[in-house]
Amino acid sequence: MRNRPDSFATRAIHHGYDPMENEGALTPPLHLTSTFAFETAEAGGEMFAGERAGHIYSRISNPTCELLEKRIAVLEGAEAGLALASGMGAISATMWTLLAPGDEIILDKTLYGCTFSFMQHGLAKFGVIVTHVDLTTPENLAAVISDKTKVVYFETPANPNMRLVNIEAVSAIAHAHDAYVVVDNTYATPYLTQPISHGADIVVHSATKYLGGHGDVIAGLLVGSTELVSEIRLSGMKDMTGAVMAPFNAMLILRGLKTLELRMDRHCASAGTIATLLEQSYGVQKVWYPGLDSFEQRGVAKRQMAQFGGMIAFELGGGIDAGRSMMNKLQLITRAVSLGDAETLVQHPASMTHSTYTPEERALHGISEGLVRLSIGLEGIDDVIFDLEQALPKRPVRSAA
Ligand SMILES: Cc1ncc(COP(=O)(O)O)c(C=O)c1O
Repeated sequence: MRNRPDSFATRAIHHGYDPMENEGALTPPLHLTSTFAFETAEAGGEMFAGERAGHIYSRISNPTCELLEKRIAVLEGAEAGLALASGMGAISATMWTLLAPGDEIILDKTLYGCTFSFMQHGLAKFGVIVTHVDLTTPENLAAVISDKTKVVYFETPANPNMRLVNIEAVSAIAHAHDAYVVVDNTYATPYLTQPISHGADIVVHSATKYLGGHGDVIAGLLVGSTELVSEIRLSGMKDMTGAVMAPFNAMLILRGLKTLELRMDRHCASAGTIATLLEQSYGVQKVWYPGLDSFEQRGVAKRQMAQFGGMIAFELGGGIDAGRSMMNKLQLITRAVSLGDAETLVQHPASMTHSTYTPEERALHGISEGLVRLSIGLEGIDDVIFDLEQALPKRPVRSAA
């Protein structure tokens, strides 16, 4: 037993696993099994009744997924975790568990495209009242929250425009009205922000991104109190979505977590340098990165982010035509959606990840048509900068006349 608290990286590598309980295997075993044997008929019945601990069937729990659930819970500072098939699986299983027809969910204005679509077209179809509020000003929430409000939901930083939400201020208002606060922490990861410590009730992740880190798996995670997580496991995940994580995918995410701290340090350092450089580049109209002095919500960034992440949004003077032309000139940076991978990725939200919004909705929700999103990878930073510089608009050469 170590008699001091483990650091973030140590927890990400060791928490919840003892090789000596697993034949000395350094790497946790992969439990590729759909079902589990009961010692007796009575024991099986007791497990179903919740009177005896143990695994029953892998759509409820699985030892490999369980280890990942313990790790993400300890990294987020939560009581319990749950592994699901995708980020969308985590979000939808949570909402199907917490909400009923007639309940209201209050959402920030800017959300990832499929989250927006799920809320706007999915939940609303089943009688949930879906209200969007600009949560960057927490007082806006106080003005509209009511007894009907069951959930307040937001991303911070938000995909794709980097808006931040003050988790503590919003949680205080939501809790005064007995509403749950659900935060999508995909962009920040628990290494940069731990929303539970700021008052959130549930944190959801697209583990496809930084937590996996290698662009080879679709996965979701969530954390919260033991009671809430158990409800989501047994209702939203087991019965309502079946969005369960495959044990092999849990192994890939466990592997990703081991290097999360190292990778995030590099993502953040490179993104900080590139954001500054973009801001000084000819043809770039605006850069959104929480580490920049020009970032409007710098105060919130400093308050709840240990570093400022690997994501950058920017817009060129020539709008989306200039943005497309720049994207098409890139030779190293890859034109692809997703984020948090070793490869630097670029995409155009209005025509790609956020094309689930109509143009009118994008205008209302603060997603500019010309915005370009960069996910800074782990390559040599000079190579990424060289590629960006050769693709960005060139200052016109003055004639000598
Ligand atoms: C902020 C955010 N949340 C949720 C999701 C959905 O995650 P997944 O693709 O793993 O279902 C994404 C995907 O891009 C995302 O960017």
